[in-house]
Amino acid sequence: MSYAEPLQPEDTPQTEAEQAVTDYVLAQESKDQLRFLTCGSVDDGKSTLIGRLLFDTKLIFEDQLAALEKDSRRHGTVGEEIDLALLVDGLEAEREQGITIDVAYRFFATDKRKFIVADTPGHEQYTRNMATGASTADLAVLLVDARHGLMVQTRRHAFIASLLGIRHVVLAVNKIDLVDYSEERFEQIRKDFEVFANGFDFESLQAIPMSARFGDNVTGRSPNMPWYGGSTLLEHLETVEIGEHELEAPFRFPVQWVNRPNLDFRGYSGTIAGGRVSVGDEIVVAGPAKTSKVARIIAPEGDVNVARSGEAVTLTLEDEIDISRGDLLSAPEGRPDVADQMAAHLIWMSEDALLPGRSYLLKIGPKTVNATVTEIKHKINVNTFEHVAGKTLDLNEIAFCNLSLSAPVAFDPYEANRHTGSFILIDRMTNQTVGAGLVWFALRRATNIHWQALEIDKAARGQALGQKPAVVWFTGLSGSGKSTIASLVEKKLHAEGRHTYVLDGDNVRHGLNRDLGFTDADRVENIRRVGEVSKLFADAGLITLVSFISPFRSERQMARDLMGASEFIEIFVDTPIEECKQRDPKGLYAKAERGEIKNFTGIDSPYEAPENPELRLKNVGRKPEDVADEVVEFLRARGFLNAANYGMHGDGI
Ligand code: ADX
Repeated sequence: MSYAEPLQPEDTPQTEAEQAVTDYVLAQESKDQLRFLTCGSVDDGKSTLIGRLLFDTKLIFEDQLAALEKDSRRHGTVGEEIDLALLVDGLEAEREQGITIDVAYRFFATDKRKFIVADTPGHEQYTRNMATGASTADLAVLLVDARHGLMVQTRRHAFIASLLGIRHVVLAVNKIDLVDYSEERFEQIRKDFEVFANGFDFESLQAIPMSARFGDNVTGRSPNMPWYGGSTLLEHLETVEIGEHELEAPFRFPVQWVNRPNLDFRGYSGTIAGGRVSVGDEIVVAGPAKTSKVARIIAPEGDVNVARSGEAVTLTLEDEIDISRGDLLSAPEGRPDVADQMAAHLIWMSEDALLPGRSYLLKIGPKTVNATVTEIKHKINVNTFEHVAGKTLDLNEIAFCNLSLSAPVAFDPYEANRHTGSFILIDRMTNQTVGAGLVWFALRRATNIHWQALEIDKAARGQALGQKPAVVWFTGLSGSGKSTIASLVEKKLHAEGRHTYVLDGDNVRHGLNRDLGFTDADRVENIRRVGEVSKLFADAGLITLVSFISPFRSERQMARDLMGASEFIEIFVDTPIEECKQRDPKGLYAKAERGEIKNFTGIDSPYEAPENPELRLKNVGRKPEDVADEVVEFLRARGFLNAANYGMHGDGI
């Protein structure tokens, strides 16, 4: 696996560039290499800088060079010279063709060191790319246009770099030629940045005045800035000392794959995510805390005695213990945390806001679980670092949050291990990566609370009531007729001797949910609570009728997931909005259209219609009684009203 793995969703295949990194990393025997990333705003000259480094270190092949000269002449952007940015921007074309290259990795070497540079697109919306590149880097080159100085984007990137554990920063004050190689201007920007970065834990911070376009202070010393006595960028990159923190960390091995080609061999494959391991070492599986000893370490070149962080290996153990994909093997001393709640920094990367209470997939290493943000403790203003209160998180925002997971997972604080301490959040509907998280600590709330097993269960209660418990979930616009139908259905079931309950939005909002309004975040919480309550009612054996607008697919799915597969019946009351407006039983549409009510569903708040409801009801021009009959017959056909299913009580149907 490549180092970029923690920030890739599970199903995303490695791009060629990432595969190349993997191969490259594996091929290196000498470990003296530096991984760095360049970041900055769009026009700060990143591509030109990388092009300059590649060009000057002679890593451009002759044919690329010929093509470059031709292109530069055609584009004519920099007169007679070669436009180095074109070299790097070649990948833009691939991007346009729909090949997703969020981060492009490039390689070059001098006789002192080998370099892997992550080139990340600089647009504001690409925080995601920046974070992906930074999660693997030892050093960040932050580009600033000498004419403009520090921008919000520069500050954001510096902050993310610091959050992601980058301890070495170069402040590249670029385009210095455009301010007449002014020492004063350079000093001003350097001081601004030092004041800003004062609170960051950077081990080294080097400001370098440069012109990537003309090469000043990139690889060669500039005759134009005699006042600058420091290193050139390349000298600095060649000599900056990077501690091998990962090697000093305790051994961590997330199991990516259980390799079982035949009955005689059982190996665990993955990339070592911290420390080192030797044949004969004791290991422990985090969680169940089962132990064994390493029998063999199989590397790409064959059996080895020792392997270390960053290497992809297959381990075999002395004992047959039950280990599966996603488990974390570690040294018995210095074990990871195992918990189902944690506090973490979240960097939000989606246009759709983070909504606390919404269920996302959380992928940490090879392990994926469901997770919700239970609380946004505070958001962080990236300019001032002030803590700001917030109920949701928008694109590029950063917050400190509490999360709750559907099952315990093993992890470390990010500070201790960047691989086992970082995760991504994935939207369950779109499968997009929407956030990156950095673990601070495990939360151990409520560890003294255990699930109390009861003697009588849902099936027994249902049996006593002569029915199959269910949640019948009506969704649709306000005024679509949900409550009328639910109420009639209840009446009919009641007449048949069924045991029912109706949970209705307007009613529940008078009590349990009286603290909630109609923002997206509040609606998510509204449905989360009602989902839980309807689960309890069904557990009590009742046929539970739920009548809420429940406008979001994601929360309806969450409610469905709480129940057994056959117990959740989604009924879409599919009444066109024009009809709802005309009916307007509570006069709310009229008010919403006059702007007197905000966030009204269908007016200025979305409704996501179900794609595959169990039943779709059209009620325009029909008698409500008939529509309710349709529902009852549907339930009967599905066996919910058939006492024979349980063979006792009830009068049969
Ligand atoms: S939901 O979106 O969170 O599921 P819920 O079903 O609980 O909504 O409540 C909807 C009811 O609240 C509507 O039937 C209507 O009577 C009332 N209401 C008041 N304001 C709004 C609003 N802004 N949007 C939708 N319904 C509203």
